[in-house]
Amino acid sequence: MRLYHDEDVVPDLLREKAIAVIGYGNQGRAQALNLRDSGLNVIVGNRVDAYAARAKADRFAVHPIATAASLADVVLLLIPDEVMPEVFAAEVRSRLRQKSVLVFASGYAVAFGLLELPPGIDVVLLAPRMIGSGVRDAYVEGRGAPAFIGVAQDYSGQARAYALALAAGIGATRAGVVEVTFAQEAELDLFTEQCFGPAFGHVLTTSIDLLLEEGYPPEAVLLELYMSGEFAYTLGKIAELGMVEQASLHSTTSQYGSMSRGIRFQIPELRRKLREGLIEIRSGAFAREWAEEQAQGAPTLAMLREAARDMPLAALETELRRALGSASLGSHPVTPPPGPEARTPTQRRRLIARLQALLRRSARRPGPAAATLMAPTMGDVLPTPEAGAGGGTHTTLDTPMLRRVIEAFLSDAAADPALQAFSRGRGITSAYALTDAKLAFTLRFDDGEVTGGIGAPPEPSQVQLSMKADTFDRMLSGHLNATRATLAGDITFDGDARTALTIQRVQKDLIRLYGAARARVIG
Ligand code: NAI
Repeated sequence: MRLYHDEDVVPDLLREKAIAVIGYGNQGRAQALNLRDSGLNVIVGNRVDAYAARAKADRFAVHPIATAASLADVVLLLIPDEVMPEVFAAEVRSRLRQKSVLVFASGYAVAFGLLELPPGIDVVLLAPRMIGSGVRDAYVEGRGAPAFIGVAQDYSGQARAYALALAAGIGATRAGVVEVTFAQEAELDLFTEQCFGPAFGHVLTTSIDLLLEEGYPPEAVLLELYMSGEFAYTLGKIAELGMVEQASLHSTTSQYGSMSRGIRFQIPELRRKLREGLIEIRSGAFAREWAEEQAQGAPTLAMLREAARDMPLAALETELRRALGSASLGSHPVTPPPGPEARTPTQRRRLIARLQALLRRSARRPGPAAATLMAPTMGDVLPTPEAGAGGGTHTTLDTPMLRRVIEAFLSDAAADPALQAFSRGRGITSAYALTDAKLAFTLRFDDGEVTGGIGAPPEPSQVQLSMKADTFDRMLSGHLNATRATLAGDITFDGDARTALTIQRVQKDLIRLYGAARARVIG
């Protein structure tokens, strides 16, 4: 393993160079300030907005993006990845000087071929493994944030040396710099965001759900699992000492318990899912999907954000943060709430009553779409044993009756204008398996037509949902929270997550149609 440090940097390589930092956001500000404090000649390129004003306030010469690109020998492109292709093509590409060095903080745009790079320049990566404010703080404290460097084009024969010199300028070689390809950086980054993070989030939300169902006090559960900051502290120690060494910081009971029980969670399915995610990333399928999503105005993202805002867990967390007054949670102090900081027993009782009311409200909410389960980290954790009961009574259907309801539902779905409109321009097959009833059916959206039928689909389906008959019936009757059922292992999903999310857009219509068909059939 090769780690580059200060001693690997060619001195004065950047001394005579003009460096333009394009974008003055998270990374732009941190890197521009660090480079300037390292004695380098830095200007800023920015459109006219609040970021430009901040750069001026920090005493930088601020130019329009195209001007800054044309004035510099080294151009750091530190604007959001989503806008990079357009801004690069319109304002940067033709302004770059021959022999200049173009620098990215993320491998994404280059790795997935979103930019047309001109010949005759060096193209390098300098990607801090730290958010912008952390890059700045570490530098000011005399440390540095580790970073990846990489080379995509080496016109000068010195591209790596430039990347290292810039890494030194932002303080990264104080900590350690690793060389990767642009593709490796982008893929690792996406893997963390799309596989490791959500898998971890799912463990967390499932644990919360289980413990609340078992009657542990909500505030104790959240504090125990993560809100006290103990877990974040332990992660810090793992980063500092390593997984094995940090174990000695815990009691022997903890060591014995976690090591002897860990084997229970070595689930082959987890590895398969992580690999699926990685394949999607490496094939470019995710990058293509995201580009299409953006071209359509990001409707799925809007839907996911809405769902996240709505989740009871967020409300619970806010309550708990308020309740804990000005105490520090995690590694960062939280904004002190209005009112007294120390809580009397009465205030505490009131808080618990409020929490309970909140939980009861969330338990009464009807179950959301089945496909909500595709966003496990945004899971709609319903924290009471009776969660998902949805109020009202629910008659369990026997298999012949359920089959008749499904047939009626599919027939109504085929004639429904809202579903037909949704189906236009699409080709989606989803398969449902109701395991205990040995009943399967298919719903297909095929360019304006909606078809379906009992039995396995004639062609491979993009979405497969499997559950018990009663779970299905409750879910489409709006009596069961599907995410809650997924967390409890009552619904399993396989197939293409994006397609499942797309179907979610008509989930309300499916519930409407199913409810009407059910009422008609059972009388
Ligand atoms: P940001 O969202 O903070 O960028 C804001 C800047 O972009 C502002 O200067 C704004 O004027 C400019 N900007 C936004 N939209 C624009 C448009 N349509 N046209 C022209 N300028 C526009 O960006 P952030 O988070 O600093 O990311 C920059 C690069 O750094 C990205 O490649 C990102 O992947 C990478 N990166 C970001 C990290 C972070 O801490 N957020 C960590 C490591 C890498």
